[in-house]
This record gives sequence, C-alpha cells and structure tokens, in this order.
Amino acid sequence: TFSEAEKAAIVSILGKASGNVSALGAEALERMFLGFPQTKTYFAHFDLSHGSTDLQTHGGKVLGALAEAAKHLDNLEGSLSQLSDLHAYNLRVDPGNFSLLSHCILVTLAAHYSAHFDAVTHAAFDKFISVVSQILTSKYR
Ligand code: HEM
Repeated sequence: TFSEAEKAAIVSILGKASGNVSALGAEALERMFLGFPQTKTYFAHFDLSHGSTDLQTHGGKVLGALAEAAKHLDNLEGSLSQLSDLHAYNLRVDPGNFSLLSHCILVTLAAHYSAHFDAVTHAAFDKFISVVSQILTSKYR
C-alpha cells in the first residue's frame, strides 16, 4: 500500500508523462535494448531501430498502461489482471526482465523531468513500478 505522499508523487510524475507516452516509452525501450540486449529476444518481430514506429507504438502502450494504473493505486492487482495474464501465460517473459525495464523507465522519467524528480518521487516511483512488476509476474508457475 502507498502513503498519501507516495500516491501524490506517483500521480504527479505519471501525469507529466501522460502527454508524451509514445516518445518516453520508445526511449525507455531503446535504453533497455541497448543496455540489456538479451531483452531483444522477445521483440524479434519489431523494428528496433532508433525512433521506429514499433518502438513508439509499444512504448506508448507500456507507459500508457502505467499512467492508467496510477489511477487505480488502491486496486492495482485488479486493474492489471489482464496484463498479468498476458505476460505470464502468453508472452512468458522471464520475470528477471521486469527490473531491467523498470530501471530504464525510471531513468527516462528522471532524465526528462529532472526538476520534478526529487528523492520522494524517485522512491515512490520505484515502489510503484516494483509493485506493478510483482503483479505482472505473479501468475507464473
Ligand atoms: C505487451 C506493459 C514488461 C514484453 C505489453 C502491452 C503492455 C505491456 C500494455 C500491450 C498489451 C496489449 O497489446 O494488449 C508492460 C508493463 C511492463 C511490461 C507495464 C512492466 C512495467 C515487459 C517486459 C518484457 C515485455 C519486461 C520483456 C522484456 C512484452 C511483449 C509484448 C508486451 C513481447 C507484446 C508485444 C507485441 O507483440 O505487440 N506489455 N510490459 N513486457 N510486453 Fe510488456
């Protein structure tokens, strides 16, 4: 569960990001693919070149899902249930990859919103994305 201060910080940073999800999401994905090339194996069907439509579209979906989840901080499990099924049963993404993408999303937000990204925001966003990742990897057997 999140404190009121954490909730406010999460809603605020994702509110800033919500107008620019495709570009920010594409950047986060690109950082992941460059920093952790093994993650590219899940996206063999994508054009992974810099700024590609695939990166923009998928990045928009990922950050859009996070912005949407921030509206349901008291019921993340319920609101992420379909995405959780998808990642566990269909995509079978190795759970270890979630911390890699989480890190890249955090770095991207910190780089774009540096004035806003204080220690409280950093800690709250880190907690938020770990909880989201836990939920998305909770159905693996
Ligand atoms: C698809 C979110 C982590 C691999 C998706 C979709 C969303 C999403 C919203 C689209 C679902 C749809 O089209 O209905 C997230 C979030 C993550 C996360 C919020 C963690 C914070 C990961 C990780 C990987 C991954 C770590 C692998 C490294 C994929 C793949 C697809 C997908 C391969 C399908 C892409 C396609 O073919 O269109 N994810 N994801 N996801 N995700 Fe994730």
